[in-house]
Amino acid sequence: MCGIVGYIGNRQATEVLIEGLSKLEYRGYDSAGCAVNSGDSLSVRKFKGRLSVLADDLKANPLSSNIGIGHTRWATHGAPSDVNSHPHLNMDSTIAVVHNGIIENYMQLKEWLISEGKVFKSETDTEVVAHLVDYYYEGDLLDAVYKAMAKLRGAYALGVISKDNPDELVAVRNESPLVIGIGEGENFIASDIPALLKYTRNVYFLENGEVVHLTKDSVKIFNQDREEVKREIYNVKWDIEAASKGGFDHFMIKEINEQPNGIKETLNRRLDENGDIKLDDIKLTKAELDNINKVYIVACGTAYYAGLVGKHAIEKFAKIPVETDIASEFRYRDAFVDENTLLIVVSQSGETADTLAALKEAKSKGARILAITNVVGSSVSREADDVFYTWAGPEIAVASTKAYTTQLVSLYMIALDFAIKKGTITKEQYKTMISKLGETSDKVQEIIDNSDDIEKIAEEIKDSKDAFYLGRGLDYCLAMEGALKLKEISYIHAEAFPAGELKHGPIALIEEGTPVISIATQDVLFEKMVSNMKEVKARGAYVIALAKEGNKEVEKAADRVIYIPEVDDVLSSILTVVPLQILSYHVATKRGCDVDKPRNLAKSVTVE
Ligand code: F6R
Repeated sequence: MCGIVGYIGNRQATEVLIEGLSKLEYRGYDSAGCAVNSGDSLSVRKFKGRLSVLADDLKANPLSSNIGIGHTRWATHGAPSDVNSHPHLNMDSTIAVVHNGIIENYMQLKEWLISEGKVFKSETDTEVVAHLVDYYYEGDLLDAVYKAMAKLRGAYALGVISKDNPDELVAVRNESPLVIGIGEGENFIASDIPALLKYTRNVYFLENGEVVHLTKDSVKIFNQDREEVKREIYNVKWDIEAASKGGFDHFMIKEINEQPNGIKETLNRRLDENGDIKLDDIKLTKAELDNINKVYIVACGTAYYAGLVGKHAIEKFAKIPVETDIASEFRYRDAFVDENTLLIVVSQSGETADTLAALKEAKSKGARILAITNVVGSSVSREADDVFYTWAGPEIAVASTKAYTTQLVSLYMIALDFAIKKGTITKEQYKTMISKLGETSDKVQEIIDNSDDIEKIAEEIKDSKDAFYLGRGLDYCLAMEGALKLKEISYIHAEAFPAGELKHGPIALIEEGTPVISIATQDVLFEKMVSNMKEVKARGAYVIALAKEGNKEVEKAADRVIYIPEVDDVLSSILTVVPLQILSYHVATKRGCDVDKPRNLAKSVTVE
């Protein structure tokens, strides 16, 4: 998973490429590179390390050109190194390629190309593309790319330039994302919209298998049969400010602060004048809904944890059995799916390879597909029958925060909509829940505004080796999300347990001073949670409790208490997650970690 950009126009290409790549670093940041056409040759700079290494090099030794391609890498084939960085070139350095994705049959292709006399320099799968385009190249770059594509298997977005075609940039999209930016006298390619926003808001989304030919004055899109296709221009509405830090130290804390607004947007955009939920994009009729006898919610990571909350909501309100599964497991386990199944996929990026594959698997078995995603035009949104956009705005920090809360709101809305259609709740219950859902955004704001104590707690636990999270019922789903948030950005070993399981093994892990974050927001389970806190405290744990305001009893069992405002049990997850995010953020910054770009991770996992 990587980010690619390309430029053709009148500006200095390297400036546009660096600007674009800086907005794509979330896709990978172990190396970066660019290639430009310098007239008599292609000039390439590529380095292991952050984008700043490349930017500094270009500052010291500028490259002048009006056409180029750039890349920010997250290694898949071949360790991060200068030589494995993109762009990759053919043997006489006349063709340069940047790639996001994986070429699955690269080993066969490599063997064949070596037998044809090609010499490889890197360990990457991408280098085969450069040699392949070269193999077919007879002066027509577009034609050579088409012929190369016919040999490739896998997921790829490509940007290709050639020394002998100084006025042409060719790009391809197959499974990996790619957008085309349309300017005046200049055009762009990029893996994601933020890379283009400084220059244009007008974009084309490509379909799988499409090839695009760009000059500075034209953009032509061709399908697999080489027929030109017409595409509508999509005008990006959100602001570039939304994709930059806007005064905060990190994207993560900015995005935590954006949650009240994200919740409001997600909800209010779908309420009609009577305050009822109106899901225009979900075309499931009542009759179709009545035929659905099973729902799967499938996703990865944080989105999966949102799905676990969704299961509670749909089962409680709509009374349909729901199974939640991790996409990489679901896709290989031959799950029982048929025409009466609804598959809900949850994906912030809409590009996660496993989620997409799970979607396709269920679709091939006849399931109806509903996608919850944050990215308009993403692969998941195109493959689904119905799409629910979360309207969180671009999420840049690798650790997901505002996408998660808006996914929760989306799942609650879907659950309530299904329930009222199926008649499993009364109109009064429906109205009450919508109104309570509407109050959550102010309550989240209240938590954020009063979070100074959470920072103090972070100071107390920042040097811990391990941390454990406990919860029951819905709170266990939140415990899992809390533990993921802490481990991924602070690198503290963190694990979640259902509190009732403690005595069946995990309690053996408790040592003097081990932080145990104990979530107790569910009224009926409150006393049981307090008992569990006492059990771990008696064994030396440092208990940090999370409870609803007014539940003072918890203070007897905990060393520290974080209170959240009063909220209906079933909706508590939207509030509970916020202190957990803030705690992880402060622990990680106090440990000096790179919170927005944690080691070994990338924002969008577009490979299996
Ligand atoms: C963790 C995190 C990841 C993602 C997961 C799925 O903070 O962000 O666990 O939730 O990689 O990504 P999407 O939602 O883009 O499919």
